[in-house]
Amino acid sequence: MKALVTGVAGFIGSHLSHSLLKDGHAVTGVDCFTDYYPRSFKERNLKPLLTAENFHFLERPVQDLDLHSLLQTADVVFHLAAQPGVRASWGREFEIYTMNNILATQKLLDAAVGSKLHRFVYASSSSVYGDTKKLPSSEEDPICPLSPYGVSKLAGEHLARLYHVNYGVPTVSLRYFTVYGPKQRPDMAFHRFLKAVLLDEEIPLFGDGTQTRDFTFVADVISATRAAGETGAPGGVYNIGGGHRVTISEVIETISQISGKRVQLKRYDKVKGDVRHTWADTARARADLRFAPATELRDGLAEEYRWICEVYGV
Ligand SMILES: NC(=O)c1ccc[n+]([C@@H]2O[C@H](COP(=O)([O-])OP(=O)(O)OC[C@H]3O[C@@H](n4cnc5c(N)ncnc54)[C@H](O)[C@@H]3O)[C@@H](O)[C@H]2O)c1
Repeated sequence: MKALVTGVAGFIGSHLSHSLLKDGHAVTGVDCFTDYYPRSFKERNLKPLLTAENFHFLERPVQDLDLHSLLQTADVVFHLAAQPGVRASWGREFEIYTMNNILATQKLLDAAVGSKLHRFVYASSSSVYGDTKKLPSSEEDPICPLSPYGVSKLAGEHLARLYHVNYGVPTVSLRYFTVYGPKQRPDMAFHRFLKAVLLDEEIPLFGDGTQTRDFTFVADVISATRAAGETGAPGGVYNIGGGHRVTISEVIETISQISGKRVQLKRYDKVKGDVRHTWADTARARADLRFAPATELRDGLAEEYRWICEVYGV
């Protein structure tokens, strides 16, 4: 299989590409090293891929590429490039979200019209649900994002559906629920918590700690994403979540046990755009994608902690 992976230097894109290459597939990876977090993390993610025989890297914004010729030679697109982050998506910054999350997605979908793609997998987000009243959330539930980031990811999902209905592009949208594991972005909670504990700093806690999240280990996300590229229903949308929810206070307690350290907290008010709870109903992904999240939170956190120790040199 020849895959086009956008956002290849990022957290999830680099894991996905590694997994595809390991199984003998060819990967063309695209990334423009946006400055949302330091380039050094992305170079570290990309480095092992660059020496792989079947890997080709293009350092360019998706929207500036000759997408038509790129898509002529691809079997599956995994479109993961995006400006992430709920909290940073307000105000002037929204222009960046519009460009990288909406315009780039529309251009890629448009170039896929008339191609022979087997699947076009779009990385959407649990943030499309907003503060949902019904838990766990299923794909048929009302969606009402609470942040501009969520709006931009939902726009991408709608575009994917439109290009499927009108032009037959075989799109599959995956609503990832908070992904964690080695290489996690430095702005994400587990990365910040584990780093703070390692360096004996205070853990920044937004809200009262009773908010819950459905956390998904990155290897489980990669299995689901690859399966979507093979057997996802064209035009379909799937929740990809660990399947149960945990309070942030419980996470902090587990981190204390894993690291063997006493945790010091620095409390902040809840931030605009943060939802109170997320929890995925994954029945559809279990049925169509044989999705079976296998990693317990404690094991996944321990793996991420080992990586954090490597990165911060302790
Ligand atoms: N990490 C999560 O918990 C999570 C949850 C829900 C959805 N998602 C989605 O999954 C995808 C990957 O997330 P991640 O956590 O790996 O983020 P990431 O920031 O680590 O990776 C995204 C990569 O895309 C690149 N990029 C951004 N805009 C680009 C453009 N226009 N052209 C080329 N490259 C561009 C960035 O430089 C970055 O390396 C994103 O679409 C994100 O919205 C992630």
